Amino acid sequence: MLTYKDLGLVNSREMFKKAMEGQYAIPAFNFNNLEQLQAIIMACVETKSPVILQVSSGARKYANANLLKNMAKGAVEYANELGCNIPIVLHLDHGDTFELCKSCIETGFSSVMIDGSHHSYEKNVEITRQVVEYAHKYDVTVEGELGVLAGIEDDVQAEHHTYTRPEEVEDFVKRTGVDSLAISIGTSHGAFKFNVKPGEEIPPLRFDILEEIEKRIPGFPIVLHGASSIPQDIIAEINKYGGDIQNSAGVPEEQLRRAAKSAVCKINIDSDGRLAMTAAVRKVLSENPQEFDPRKYLGPAREKLKQLYMHKIINVLGSNNKVS
Ligand code: G3H
Ligand code: 13P
Ligand code: ZN
Repeated sequence: MLTYKDLGLVNSREMFKKAMEGQYAIPAFNFNNLEQLQAIIMACVETKSPVILQVSSGARKYANANLLKNMAKGAVEYANELGCNIPIVLHLDHGDTFELCKSCIETGFSSVMIDGSHHSYEKNVEITRQVVEYAHKYDVTVEGELGVLAGIEDDVQAEHHTYTRPEEVEDFVKRTGVDSLAISIGTSHGAFKFNVKPGEEIPPLRFDILEEIEKRIPGFPIVLHGASSIPQDIIAEINKYGGDIQNSAGVPEEQLRRAAKSAVCKINIDSDGRLAMTAAVRKVLSENPQEFDPRKYLGPAREKLKQLYMHKIINVLGSNNKVS
């Protein structure tokens, strides 16, 4: 069987160890097309940052598993060509079944998430352990999840948060053998994370729960989902050029900076990238209504995305200059 090692990818083990020691977080950026992948690699090479390329099940269906495998291989070669051999992980985001995780491992993924958070605790343990047993045979790392984020987690819809219960984490980690753990401390997916009126304060993340978790599993890599900040200047640009996005709110970057210095070793960002691309595409098409060459609007979208990722890496996650 072809494995991720044949593609030049790495698993997340060493990356997380270094991130924990260095008190920074690895960027996990979602992608499903060429321009997003180019932007991620360009930004990470320029800042000398390790990276996790993240693919949801929906993105995998959209892009095609074979194409993704070869895109990941191409990404490794592209980074080398740009002049820096950055470590690259190909990770399944929110895998919901054993079969999906297995299929990803068979098509070049070096890391998978099994998200059993919507099941009962015992069922979550069982399904996560099953994935770990299979994945570890191929030296693929596994992320599990305890607690439920509000909003939509792929096929899973959760109306409200269920914060991670610190008293469960030690047992879960021990019984499943997972390599990292996603937790719920007040973030959610998408562009509407908090129900606040303009000018109102965004409620802080539950750092008290994170600290309690760290005490119970010291040195264990923690993952933060739903970590987009929903930059309001980008929202304003989208709306200026014909968009209509109201009442959006994200996690303030200050709080993510604080998380990155803790046991949080992986920070997931998808929505901010979607917004940046949308703003750039809308601007070009609005200012040049006669334009119909996709390179003319996807090129600027790629550049805006690259700038956004560089900003996240340098000013929020602190993963820059971690590759020689
Ligand atoms: O956690 C969700 C990610 O942002 C992926 O979203 O399922 O629309 O690709 P998606
Ligand atoms: P955002 O929607 O906040 O970007 O979260 C992305 C995520 O958690 C992917 O798993
Ligand atoms: Zn997520």
